[in-house]
Formats: sequence, C-alpha cells, structure tokens
Amino acid sequence: QADVCPQAAEDPLFGLMAAYRKDTSDKKVDLGIGAYRDNNAKPWVLPVVKKADDLIRNDPNLNHEYLPIAGLAEFTSASQKLILGPDSPAIQEGRVASFQTVSGTGAVHLGALFLAKFSKQIPTVYFSNPTWVNHNQIFSNVGIPTKTYPYFSAETKMLDFEGMISTIKQAPAGSVILLHPCAHNPTGVDPTQEQWKEIAAVMKERDLFPFLDCAYQGFATGDLAKDNFAIRYFVEQGFELCVCQSFAKNFGLYGQRAGAFHYVVASASDSSEAIKRIASQLAILQRSEISNPPAYGARIASKVLNDPQLFAEWERDLRTMSGRIIEMRKALKAELDKLGTPGTWDHITSQIGMFSFTGLNAQQVQALQEKHHVYMTKNGRISMAGLNTNNIEYFAKAVDDVVRN
Ligand code: LMR
Repeated sequence: QADVCPQAAEDPLFGLMAAYRKDTSDKKVDLGIGAYRDNNAKPWVLPVVKKADDLIRNDPNLNHEYLPIAGLAEFTSASQKLILGPDSPAIQEGRVASFQTVSGTGAVHLGALFLAKFSKQIPTVYFSNPTWVNHNQIFSNVGIPTKTYPYFSAETKMLDFEGMISTIKQAPAGSVILLHPCAHNPTGVDPTQEQWKEIAAVMKERDLFPFLDCAYQGFATGDLAKDNFAIRYFVEQGFELCVCQSFAKNFGLYGQRAGAFHYVVASASDSSEAIKRIASQLAILQRSEISNPPAYGARIASKVLNDPQLFAEWERDLRTMSGRIIEMRKALKAELDKLGTPGTWDHITSQIGMFSFTGLNAQQVQALQEKHHVYMTKNGRISMAGLNTNNIEYFAKAVDDVVRN
C-alpha cells in the first residue's frame, strides 16, 4: 500500500483552523469553521447544556455502558419530534426509522450508504452549487455519482430559483436531490415557503428522492418549529425520504457528535412492514461501521429535549446565538456603508443563519489572510459568529482594503 497511496490535500476547513491557530498576531480573526463564538470570540457552552451536563454527571446511576445499535431511545424519539414536528403523521403511523448517528456527518454517511446498497439502481445525487464541502466526498466514498444544481446567483447574491428548478426538472427519475431545509451552508440563502412547495411539486412529478440535511435548525428564523417547515411539508406530500439532523450547532455540542438519521416511508398498507425491513438493514450498516453511537452528547440533548422547562431555556439560548449573529450582520453592513466600500452589501443582512456568502473572490480572501490575519474559506464564506463588537471595525476596514486594492 505504501507505494500506491498518493498524498491527499489537507482538508480545507480544518487546514484553515490549523493556520489560524499558528498565527501569532493579536489582530487575527477566525471566520472559518461554522461554530458559534461569544462576543469575546470564545466558544460558548449554552447555559442549558451546562445545567443538563451537571444533572447527568451527578446522577449516581450514570455508567459508561454501550448504547443500543440505534442509540439512546429517548434521544431518537425526541429528535424525531423536533425535526418532523410532534404531530407528524409519519410518526403517528409508525413510518419512521430513527438512528442516533455520529452527528450530521454520520447521518449523511449512513443515508448515503443505505442508498448505495438498497436502491433499484445506483442513483445520482444532486447537490446545490455550492454546498457543504463534505457532501461530495461522503457520497463519492460510497460509490454514488454526484452532480450539481444551480443555487446561488453571483449577480444578485440570492437564490437562483429558476436555475435550480430547471435542473431538478431534468434529473432522471429516482435521482436523489440533497436539500438544506434551513440556513443553507455556505450561502445563507433559503427558498421561501412558496418556493419549497414548487420544489416539492416538481420532485413529486419527476419521482425524485429528497435527502434533507438539516444542521442548523433554530438558526434560520430563530424558531425551531418554523425552521423545519420544508421537512414537514415534504413529509406531508407523501414522499419517501431521509432526514439528517445535527445537534452540533444548535446545542453547541460540536465535539460530542450528537445527531440522528431518520428514514420516512410513504403511507401505504405495507408501510409498517417496509419500515421494519429498512430499520433492520440500517442496524447492520450501523453495527459494521460504528457498532453503536457515542453516549454523552446524546444524553445531554435528550435531557433538554424531554424536559419542557429545559427546552424553554434552550429556546432562549438559541435566540441569544441567533440574535447576536443578526446584530453582527447589521453592524457589518453599517461599517461597510460608512466606509463606502465599493459594491453592494445588502446581502449581508438579507442572508440568514450562521454564514454569509460575501461575494469576495479567492484573491481577496487570500489577501485578507496574508495582509490582515483574517481567516475565511476560499469561496468567500464567513462564519458570522466569528465577528464581535471588538473586531467588526477591523474586519470591515480589512474588507474595504482588499476590495479597493
Ligand atoms: C462548517 O461548514 O463550517 C461546519 O459544518 C463544520 C464542518 O464539519 O465542516
């Protein structure tokens, strides 16, 4: 193996994180990875997570035994209700198989692996252009061919809805369409509810399979129940589909790897048999890949999801995060307006979620890093949570400099 294994490129996002850590400048600004930071640029342990953590730690019955293959049952059932809605017909009719996974990445992988093994023929998966950097390699690794559909208009810096719909319309029946149900990564641009309805109608007509990857529930509108609109709508339309769910961002449980995968079958006389067969195969895949999922982060999320008082506290913590990000959007736009930076910057405040797709090009991004110690991905994405009242003026001036020069 040693002589046939070629050198691979470093992961762009984790490489960026390493470069930031090495930089000794006291001016450095980290706008790379999508992880929430407080106004002092520090990681934030949600107060409700701290509370749940204390309760679990002090429980005399706590042990470190294996979880079942499908994970912690009270975690997966609460996750299901959160993402599909508590009154989801699919849950009520027992048409959902849910597995706890190694966060969102593990969920996407489990879904991709299942589709690679159990589709009538290997489908092609269509990603938005652009999409989360990891999607392509997760699907390619299991032998699923990938294509893209237009998503972001460089001109308007908003959704290219016409391009998106016309490409989806041409996808062969049985293709998998990967969609971000809310707070699209990396663009911060989501379809409206009317547009979601149109996407669903086209996919129904063309017999396409929705693969819904939701890593930012609570970050788009600040309201958990509103952010799952697209998922609820697709389920109501009677699709067979899968949903990937991450608790990394909305609980700040990044390193704990808490997430879930849900497979939903359409309502039919044999749907309870079908979902049992699907769950049995998912269990084999999960067992062979990770045996059973990590327990601690799921225990924390489960404690909060299953306790109405803690749940309400969580919603407040989420609003703290999404509220600060919105403030930073306004502040950045105001700073750039004040400087008269060439170009239009309205998209900074109209985009939503954790990220802004600034429109800065690769050269400008490189200059920001080399000249100003600002770290962001090459595609011009910034994690808004990396901005705060201490560095926003500095960042705006740095942007102004690279845009002008
Ligand atoms: C991101 O896009 O920054 C996050 O989803 C982190 C990751 O794992 O890529």
